[in-house]
Amino acid sequence: MKVLITGATGLIGGELVSQCHRKGYEVNYLTTSKEKIVSEPNYKGFHWNPDKKEIDTDCFSGVSVIINLAGASISERWTSSYKKVIIESRINSLQTLRQSINKLPNHTINAIISASAIGIYPDSTTNYYSEEDSGVDDSFLGEVVEIWEKEVDTFNNSVPNVAKVRIGLVMSSDGGALPEIAKPIKNYVGAAFGSGEQWQSWIHISDLARIFLFVAENELSGIYNGVGPNPVTNNKLVKEIAKVLDRPLFLPNIPEFMMKLILGEMSYILFASQRVSSKKIEEEGFVFKFQNICGALEAIYEKENKDETITSDLNKEYIS
Ligand SMILES: NC(=O)c1ccc[n+]([C@@H]2O[C@H](COP(=O)([O-])OP(=O)(O)OC[C@H]3O[C@@H](n4cnc5c(N)ncnc54)[C@H](OP(=O)(O)O)[C@@H]3O)[C@@H](O)[C@H]2O)c1
Repeated sequence: MKVLITGATGLIGGELVSQCHRKGYEVNYLTTSKEKIVSEPNYKGFHWNPDKKEIDTDCFSGVSVIINLAGASISERWTSSYKKVIIESRINSLQTLRQSINKLPNHTINAIISASAIGIYPDSTTNYYSEEDSGVDDSFLGEVVEIWEKEVDTFNNSVPNVAKVRIGLVMSSDGGALPEIAKPIKNYVGAAFGSGEQWQSWIHISDLARIFLFVAENELSGIYNGVGPNPVTNNKLVKEIAKVLDRPLFLPNIPEFMMKLILGEMSYILFASQRVSSKKIEEEGFVFKFQNICGALEAIYEKENKDETITSDLNKEYIS
């Protein structure tokens, strides 16, 4: 299988590329930064500029599956101009891909699998969401995901299999939310947010990349939640992180208004509650390696400790 990945240089993309290589899949990738282009036999970079609808169409050569992860980060302050960037980066990327595929007379593309997000589900501490639920959260994130998914759906006229993976809170020590949540805990000032009762539908990064490849290998289409089987509350998540890091938790929960003062509207991400089911992908035969938050966190921090030990050993060797 030859896969074209957009956003391959990001957090999830990095893990996906590693898994593709372990399985012997060739990877082409599109990047907006010319300096990130490398050209190796199984990892070839191509430049694009979705805002100008420019793309190097050689990227499609021999490709059967496109995995679309491109999009400006949502972890920047949501000013009105940056909100536009968040939406347009996603829409322009998809439009650039679709318009160029439609111009290729004999393309070999059998599937597009696009990232989406569980932020589409309405904020609720009681609902348990499946892919069938059609409500949209009344927030900027709900709006982004709704527009993003509609754009993905336009591929139905161009490609046989169109799938969307609604990604939850990705657990990795290399980036995303976990290092940010863990930082105050490591520094002995950790606390849960708000009531702490909000649901966090997390997924280990390795399982998430495996879901993208599972959808590709099994030619699935439609929506799949990219979340682990056991969501936890924010209280539980913070407690488990503190336990794995061997730190005490003694401060009261941080009130919403305080985080709003610091982060602005983006603080919404910390307080929104979405309890999301992974049943649909499991019914297709997918088996999670990381079922529970404590096992996922232990694996992540064990790896981080190993990486730190290797770096310090290398430094010692270099000095001596
Ligand atoms: N991480 C999570 O917890 C999470 C949760 C829900 C949904 N998602 C979604 O999953 C996707 C991948 O997430 P991630 O955490 O891997 O994100 P990431 O680390 O920020 O990587 C996203 C990649 O998108 C590309 N990009 C950035 N700005 C762009 C723009 N204006 N136009 C086109 N491409 C642009 C960049 O690649 P180049 O520099 O190579 O172009 C970047 O490496 C994102 O769309 C994200 O919204 C992530």
